[in-house]
This record gives sequence, C-alpha cells and structure tokens, in this order.
Amino acid sequence: MLYLIGIGLNDEKDISLKGLEAIKKCRFVYLENYTSKFNTDVKKLEKLCNKKILLADRNMVENSQEIINNAKKYNVAFLVIGDVFSATTHINFILECRKNNIKSKVIHNASIITAVGETGLEIYKFGKITSIPFNNENIKIPIETINKNLKDNMHTLIILDLDPLNNKYLSANEALKYLVKNSIPENTKVLICSQLGGDPEIVYSEIKNLLKKEFKKFPQSIIIPSNKLHFIEEETLNLWKI
Ligand SMILES: C[S@@+](CC[C@H](N)C(=O)[O-])C[C@H]1O[C@@H](n2cnc3c(N)ncnc32)[C@H](O)[C@@H]1O
Repeated sequence: MLYLIGIGLNDEKDISLKGLEAIKKCRFVYLENYTSKFNTDVKKLEKLCNKKILLADRNMVENSQEIINNAKKYNVAFLVIGDVFSATTHINFILECRKNNIKSKVIHNASIITAVGETGLEIYKFGKITSIPFNNENIKIPIETINKNLKDNMHTLIILDLDPLNNKYLSANEALKYLVKNSIPENTKVLICSQLGGDPEIVYSEIKNLLKKEFKKFPQSIIIPSNKLHFIEEETLNLWKI
C-alpha cells in the first residue's frame, strides 16, 4: 500500500491526523524534500510519528522503483510538503501503483495554491500559475502568462524556483527585477507572500517600492492581481499595503 500524504505548508505540526495515523502503519516513510521548503528539522517529524524518515531527492522520486518495490510488500508513506498534487508532478506514483496492482491512498493538505486565499483575492479568479526559474535570462513564458491573465481579468500566482537541498531560493526581489527587465511596468502593484501557513508576511505595493525592501522569510511567492477587483478584494488588499 502506498500512502501519498501532503504534510502542509510549514512544519511538522501541519500534518493531518489522518496523515499521522497512516504513517504509523508504515514500514517505510519517505519525504520528498526538493520541491518546497520544510521550515523545521526533519527530526521533529520523526519524533512526532516515531519513524525514521528517508529523504527522497528528485532522482529517487523520478526513478520511483525503490518506493514502488517497497510498496509491493509493505505499507509505505510518501510525504510531500504542501499538497501532493499541487505544483508538483507526483501523479506518476498513482499510475505506477495501478500498473503494479498496489493499493494507494491520497491524504490531502493545504497548498500554496489554496493558501493565497489569505490575501483576499478570490481563488476562482486566478488564471494560469507561472513560475520563474533561477536561470531566467531568455525565459518569456511567465511574462506571456501574466499578460494573458491580465487581459482575461485574472490574478497571476508566480511561484519561484528553489533548491532546498542547497538552501537556495529565488527571492521575490530577484523575481521582481526579472519582471521589470521583461517589460512589466515598475508601477504595477503586486503582492509578495512569504512563508504562508507559518509566520506569514504579506505585502502589497508597486514593484518599484518593493524593490527597495528585503524579504527574509522563505518560501516566497508573488501575485499580480487582476486590474478588475471586487470591492472586498480591494478592501482586503489594503490591509497589506506598504
Ligand atoms: C513547487 S511549489 C510546491 C508546491 C507544494 N506542493 C504545495 O502544495 O504548496 C514551491 C514554490 O511554491 C511557493 N510556496 C510554497 N510554499 C509557500 C509558502 N508557504 N509561502 C509562500 N510561497 C510558497 C514558493 O514560490 C515555492 O518556491
């Protein structure tokens, strides 16, 4: 049996009771630790569930054989920071389980994709999500996505590249510089959301103003709101104005 368990956005206390109960039944517990930042020491999660946690890097996940082979014989948990299927590509495990006649169960949790509701922007008015990579010299897709969303009166969530194994995170400031360099006007008002679900910081201002500040909590995301806001969205955005 393979349990695919979202462990939430921040630390060991974000796991659900269902997730914790499932882990307790497992012989092997893997933590996928390269697509988001776990804001605590893995030892705390080990202590909470009383299990050894095996770290699964991209190579182990993409070549899923070890995990699938163990799940053929034992209960196995595969833990993902945030939600299992949000802004990650783990659906392959469901397909592999089907092919190998292994039972699987998904236990969901909060994701950056739902946490942005805290800004006051309506979730169903978000258009396509985009991401800015570290090496963005010739990358145009985020700009095309932002412009398309603006044209459709939709908000844009921009997630930022990260390399947690080397403690490297693309900062919102670096991402804003990329946006300005690629024709997004400096007076565009955007939100920077840092460490949602943990010790969150949400700020809202023009890019040129935000570029003067430094944001130290990670992970970070940027939102470009639609030009057409509901009055409740406008009222809530004002809470974050700097
Ligand atoms: C590949 S996505 C991971 C998605 C994860 N599975 C989820 O459901 O949230 C990682 C990116 O999402 C954004 N992100 C994730 N958690 C965040 C948080 N708590 N606060 C702000 N941004 C976050 C950051 O831009 C980060 O680099």
